[in-house]
Amino acid sequence: MPSNAELRDIALTVARRAADLAYLRRSEGVEIAASKSSLTDIVTRADREVEQLVREAIAASRPRDGFLGEESGGGEGTSGLTWVVDPIDGTVNYFYGIPAYAVSIAVVEGDPDPATWRTIAGAVVNPASGEAFTASAGGGARLNGRELHVNRDVPLELALVGTGFGYDARKRERQAAFVAQLIGQVRDVRRIGAASLDLCSVAAGRLDAYFERGLNPWDHAAGALLAREAGALVGGLGAGPEGEDLLVAAPPGLYEQLHPLADAFYSEWR
Ligand code: IPD
Repeated sequence: MPSNAELRDIALTVARRAADLAYLRRSEGVEIAASKSSLTDIVTRADREVEQLVREAIAASRPRDGFLGEESGGGEGTSGLTWVVDPIDGTVNYFYGIPAYAVSIAVVEGDPDPATWRTIAGAVVNPASGEAFTASAGGGARLNGRELHVNRDVPLELALVGTGFGYDARKRERQAAFVAQLIGQVRDVRRIGAASLDLCSVAAGRLDAYFERGLNPWDHAAGALLAREAGALVGGLGAGPEGEDLLVAAPPGLYEQLHPLADAFYSEWR
């Protein structure tokens, strides 16, 4: 069994290669390959090509591990480890040329289900900024090698809070209703457009907290580990783990203020 640090280094090496390809394809012009859950939920040719690169690179160095990718789906392994991959998180930013998109790669132990998995290592690389965020369980979180720590002792009214919205129009309206309720209670709200980078931003102190409902496993697998390893609490509905129903990430203290608000709103919405 490789160490957590070795798995982190594999994630980083592959994410860097994938990020280089995503960046190159972006410079050549982005082509939409298909729409998914709605007309605005796009997949580019680069998403597919980058995921294939990641899948092949991981299979070459970890042939017995499973794989779960946003574009190509799952493949079971025999080692008990699964690589959870978003080839380009922030696809809409990528399409528009907004420099906030990332390759997100995590390796988890157990079934590839956020309700039960244990995330062992992860890397999130933003090719447009050259930033590489990495973490391993128990080994801390880093940005280009520098240790990361969340902001401490920020009360809700001074918190800069990130969030995101899904692609379904009716769900977005509900999500916006919660933001409307929250915005008068915090410093301000940011919608950056890439969940993995939002979570890394909590780790780096660029956001005080982040929450979203409706995330897929590949959106948050690596970023949630980054946030935790930098000192954040990360959870979902009630006392449960993060998942599609809800993800809240914030330092202790702020978490206890923000989580009950999100939990009360989203518990009603089943
Ligand atoms: C999306 C982004 C966005 C978040 C959405 C995700 P994609 O992922 O992370 O910030 O709000 O919920 O689906 O589609 O760009 O890979």
